[in-house]
Order: sequence, then C-alpha cells, then structure tokens
Amino acid sequence: MTEKRLDPWGRGDIEDYGNLFKEFGIEPFDKYREKFQENRYVRRGIIFGQRDYGRIADAIEKKKRYAMMTGLMPSGKFHFGHKMVADQIIWYQGKGADTFICSADLEATVVRDVAPEIARKTAVEEYLTNYVALGLTEKNLTFWFQSDYVVPYYRFRDRLSKKVTLNELKGIYGDDLTTGKLFSAITQAADILHPQLKEFGGPRPTIVPVGADQDPHIRLTRDLAARFQGEYGFFPPSSTYHKFMRGLNGGKMSSSDPSSYISLTEEPETAKKKIMSSKTGGRATVKEQKELGGIPEQCMVYEMLVYHLVDSDKELEQVYSNCKTGGRICGECKKICAEKLALFLKEHQKRRKEASKTVEKILEKRKHGTGC
Ligand code: TRP
Ligand code: SF4
Repeated sequence: MTEKRLDPWGRGDIEDYGNLFKEFGIEPFDKYREKFQENRYVRRGIIFGQRDYGRIADAIEKKKRYAMMTGLMPSGKFHFGHKMVADQIIWYQGKGADTFICSADLEATVVRDVAPEIARKTAVEEYLTNYVALGLTEKNLTFWFQSDYVVPYYRFRDRLSKKVTLNELKGIYGDDLTTGKLFSAITQAADILHPQLKEFGGPRPTIVPVGADQDPHIRLTRDLAARFQGEYGFFPPSSTYHKFMRGLNGGKMSSSDPSSYISLTEEPETAKKKIMSSKTGGRATVKEQKELGGIPEQCMVYEMLVYHLVDSDKELEQVYSNCKTGGRICGECKKICAEKLALFLKEHQKRRKEASKTVEKILEKRKHGTGC
C-alpha cells in the first residue's frame, strides 16, 4: 500500500476532512470558533483546521505584531472559490496583520505550464484587482511576484535548500517530484518565512491561510523554520485550512472547467443561468420535494449561499429548515439565489472599475522594493 499523501499540485479534491486530523496532525479549529465568530468562514466551520493558531489568536487579541502571508496561483479566472481566500486575507489585514501576498507566477510557469507574461497579467487583472474590489488596501501590504522580488529573499531561498535532502522531499511530495516542483516547494518555504527576516520586519508569528492540499508545503516550511531557528529566530508559521467549495455540478470546482464555477467578472446574466442549471439537493418532482424535503447538504445553490451570499445565520437557517421540510421548491430557491448573485456581481464589477488606482499603488510600491 502506498503511503497517504496530500498533493499540492494535484486535483485538490479532498474526500474526508476529518481524516486530516489523524493522518497529518492538523488540529481542529473548534477552540477558536467562538472567539472569531464574526468571520463567516470560521462561524460556519468552513475554516476547519489549524496548526499553532494560538499564537495568532493571541496576537490579534493583544494587538501584537504578526504577519499574514499567502500566495495566489495565477492560472485562470478568479472565481468564488478564490473569493473565500481573498476574504480571509482582507479580514487579517483589517485585524492589523502585516500583509504579504505573492503571485506564484514562477510556480505557475514551471509546474502548471502557464506562460510567464500570462501568469503576471492574470495575477494583476484577475487576482489583485478582485482583491482590491473586495476590500484589500495598500496599507501594511507587501505584494510581489515570485519572479522578480528583492535580493535578500533569493539569498534566503537558496540557503533553505541546504537543510533539506532530496529523499526527504520525495517522502513529502512523492516519487514524481520534478525539478520544477522541487524549486516551487523551496520557493514557497521562502515565501512563508522571509517576512521574518530582519530585512522584512523580523521574527513574528505568521499565519498562512490555505486549502488543506497545501499542507505538505506547510509541514516542510515548519521543519525548515525549526532547522534555521538558531540562526534567524523564526516562529514556526501557523496555518489554517478551509474546505473547498464544490463545483456547480457537484464535482470539483476547477479553473479549467468554466461550467464548474462562476467568476467574479462573469456577466450577471450568464451567472444567473449557471445558478439555474446547478446541481441541487432537490427531488425528482415537486410532489416528492414537498413530501420528503430537499437535501441542502448536497445542493450547490445552498453552498453558494453559505459561503458567500447570505451573511445572516438566521436567514440561512430558515433556508435550511424550509428546504429540509419541503417548504421550499428548487426553482424558486434558485431564482432567489440568482438574483442575490447578480446584485453582488453588478456591485463588485463597479468596484473593480474603481480599483485600478489602488492596484497601481500596490504595484508601484513593489517597484521600490522593500528598502533592502
Ligand atoms: N502553491 C500555492 C498554490 O498552488 C501558491 C503559493 C505560493 C502559496 N507561495 C505560497 C500559498 C505561500 C501559500 C503560501 O495555490
Ligand atoms: Fe437547494 Fe434550495 Fe432546492 Fe433546497 S430548495 S435543494 S436549498 S435549491
């Protein structure tokens, strides 16, 4: 039997989230749920796991210095699955984090075959612009492209390679480890740890919000942090893990399959149609639905409401119980969801138009480097 692995370059669908606790030592997020209820993803259990979150909870509560770092993979349209990560980034920025965001354009090129210019364009037009329209500001923000950062970062990245063996990397990533993957893994460790170098603000707790598929990178990075602890005084990075939204047809939400997602630049009318043809948890006939009730747990329309479109728990509970008891019919329900979505998209797309100034400022700041 082969050993169980999470594949950060794989299809990203995880069957059993509970297993991750036993299998990889990810801790449940439950302990912190009460404290950070205001965050919809926390409140609804979408952020389900963590490593070393205590340090971050403490920093937020006592207003101590800490950093938030995560990377975006610029390999397609920015959709509602990505919005969940953006909302988390923005939440931490609002909670005083020194915010570090990298465009993983090198990784996109060497592992995912995206041409370098396309990766950069996607990072700006899809990711950064949508982040800003969702609320990201230039305050306390460092944004960079993996492909053109500043010298101390590269020097550090290369030094990391000294304390990890090839066999160890094969153990983490499997035998099909390619040179591109190897470089991407070390680069990601540098992404996560370098904010703690003196040139970038010095040692401080760092939170990395990711999908569970990225946990192999987190484990490697935490090991490296320990191995270089004496030299740099690193705090091992903390992480949280979220459940991915499923695709509109119930399978994986994937940038390479436009029928599986709604992008944030989607025409509102097209988006509505996509909702109307999504997989629901409804029964074959209205009669059956009234008798047996629907299954919201299996409904992609409901999932959209949970993740994005209904912030009030009361309203959501009502949808849930009405669905369960047969008081809600899918046709109507989809229409309501489609309207909410169209409204959100119209407003969001207006905000995108106003985002360009801030995006420019963020990119401008990057040109001046970080003063080192
Ligand atoms: N590997 C990540 C992905 O595929 C992108 C990434 C690069 C990243 N550097 C990072 C994520 C640092 C978190 C932290 O999406
Ligand atoms: Fe989904 Fe709504 Fe149908 Fe329930 S009534 S299964 S929530 S579409």
